[in-house]
Amino acid sequence: MSEALIRFLQNRKSVIRLEPPAPPETVIQEAYQAAMRVPDHAQLKPARWLLIQGDGREALGQLYAKALLRRSAEATEAALERSTQMPLRSPLLIVVIACVSEHPKVPPSEQILSAGCGAYAALLAFEAAGFGGIWRTGDVAYDPLIAEGLGLEDNEQIIGYLYIGTPSESEKQRDLSVPDFEDRVKHWPLT
Ligand SMILES: Cc1cc2nc3c(=O)[nH]c(=O)nc-3n(C[C@H](O)[C@H](O)[C@H](O)COP(=O)(O)O)c2cc1C
Repeated sequence: MSEALIRFLQNRKSVIRLEPPAPPETVIQEAYQAAMRVPDHAQLKPARWLLIQGDGREALGQLYAKALLRRSAEATEAALERSTQMPLRSPLLIVVIACVSEHPKVPPSEQILSAGCGAYAALLAFEAAGFGGIWRTGDVAYDPLIAEGLGLEDNEQIIGYLYIGTPSESEKQRDLSVPDFEDRVKHWPLT
């Protein structure tokens, strides 16, 4: 067992404060390869990505604001401004899209889980390459106007936005402790 790999998995963490530079295309491709090697019932490969960088982030912010206004006609100027700024929190956003197809043995939930495993594998790959990221959702992941604006098909859904970049020096330390093994893990049959 690789001690270093186990410690890496046990200590991985999300990074909230992200700065340029974004990972180069080679690192993004490595992360993609990792994301496509996750457990996947019937090898449906039920995920695709959109990469959003540079001015694309501003266009996404405009789409967020338009969608907010449609969800709530009374949205304040401040809330609209916050929406436009959201995608600027990192130099790269990856929209992870689950592409759900009909399959006699693989229900949609399994395909969405597989796409989610891919999102996690990508986060690990970026961290391993010295970058950082965080998986975010919120209203912007579930708004039909945003899905349409991003070109999703009817069988597709956003499962998350991966905010990716270089960890800022100002990123706060966090408690990485996990629930006690004895509390969450039992041998069955229970004794
Ligand atoms: C499906 C999913 C959606 C999430 N959405 C958000 C979100 O919208 N905003 C947020 O701050 N964290 C969100 N998180 C949690 C962060 O990605 C992250 O896991 C959390 O901040 C804890 O940090 P850690 O990963 O270092 O433990 C989400 C996580 C998952 C799995």
